[in-house]
Amino acid sequence: AQDADPAITNLQPWMQQLGEGVDARPYGHPSEYEAHVVRRNVEWLTADPVSSVNFTPLHELDGIITPNGLCFERHHSGIAEVDPAEHRVMINGLVETPLVFTMADLMRFPRVNRVHFLECAANSGMEWAGAQLNGCQFTHGMIHNVQYTGVPLRLLLEEAGVRTDGKWLLAEGADAAAMTRSIPMEKALDDCLVAFKMNGEALRPEQGYPVRLVVPGWEGNMWVKWLRRLEVGDQPWEHREETSKYTDLLDNGKARKFTWEMDAKSVITNPSPQAPITHGKGPLVITGIAWSGRGTIPRVDVTTDGGMTWNAARMSGPSFNKSMHRFYYEMDWDGSPLLLQSRAMDSTGYVQPTKDMLRKVRGENSIYHNNGIQTWSVNENGEAENVEIS
Ligand code: MTE
Ligand code: CO
Repeated sequence: AQDADPAITNLQPWMQQLGEGVDARPYGHPSEYEAHVVRRNVEWLTADPVSSVNFTPLHELDGIITPNGLCFERHHSGIAEVDPAEHRVMINGLVETPLVFTMADLMRFPRVNRVHFLECAANSGMEWAGAQLNGCQFTHGMIHNVQYTGVPLRLLLEEAGVRTDGKWLLAEGADAAAMTRSIPMEKALDDCLVAFKMNGEALRPEQGYPVRLVVPGWEGNMWVKWLRRLEVGDQPWEHREETSKYTDLLDNGKARKFTWEMDAKSVITNPSPQAPITHGKGPLVITGIAWSGRGTIPRVDVTTDGGMTWNAARMSGPSFNKSMHRFYYEMDWDGSPLLLQSRAMDSTGYVQPTKDMLRKVRGENSIYHNNGIQTWSVNENGEAENVEIS
């Protein structure tokens, strides 16, 4: 006979006393047992935490929505703590009527709700040079997926009246970096939002409170936080963030620029280096995420033998345009080593390439736009490691 399980037979402390009342936690936090589930920084990546990045703990999450407190942060000059009463959004430049909106003004426009991923162009950037960082949090965690509530940018531009020579838009942030990016007018009028809510509540200061630009499917750098100004112009501004940064220097010395759309990509989040298999042989749930800046993800394939055989994963959860998707692949693990990879296909038919395929076309000078297939090597003990195979 087995020994009695103390988790069943013990009278636990929480069974013997009353819990805290409803006033104890006016704004809720996760269980103390989840304290390890946090955004993490890689100190040696940047010189200073004020112009830096931390990473979403993808291996601790499920489904498709990133909780607000776990959305990775990327700031060029730290978090601006903006007082909404003192904040304005201005439209100027090539418009019939330059306009200034208070937050209250923005609330009087029709608003919409949409779920979108934001991926920094530098996500997986370290991995161009080969397997570097041990954990999907660090290799792929510069992404979050949130439901935004906001006003279609088109409505604000129509209110101001874009002149016929107005072909570009400059979005500017109110932070000390005064981040600016040029956005083509077609995109601005298509699906961009001026958003003030994330997952139902006010944007967090880290994400641009009280208002940020949402540029669905396009690189995170364009999603200007603490949005204060929208200037309409007849050509791109060629500012720092679209020339010196966020361009891809190729082998021939030329640089790709205006590489806005994020190509289809996926990663297995479990098992992974920070989330080894701890249960031994038998039923194993493999899961991960996939996304594309061009549409939805109808299909993800998973291999457990380094790409010799591919199996269609099971997609689960809502499939929104330019949103994260969740996939599962369930198997019976016999305890032998695995070489795990996932490969996304998006609704345009585009298939996620290998890292070698990418390097052939793009060289290794750039740190941006690496959407290559990720490999985790899992050993007999279930421990996973970031590797590359060719
Ligand atoms: N907007 C402003 N005003 N200042 C910034 O530093 N960083 C950009 C973009 N918008 C930034 C900004 C970059 S590089 C990215 S990847 C995203 O915001 C990150 O958004 P997040 O902090 O919500 O993850
Ligand atoms: Co970025």
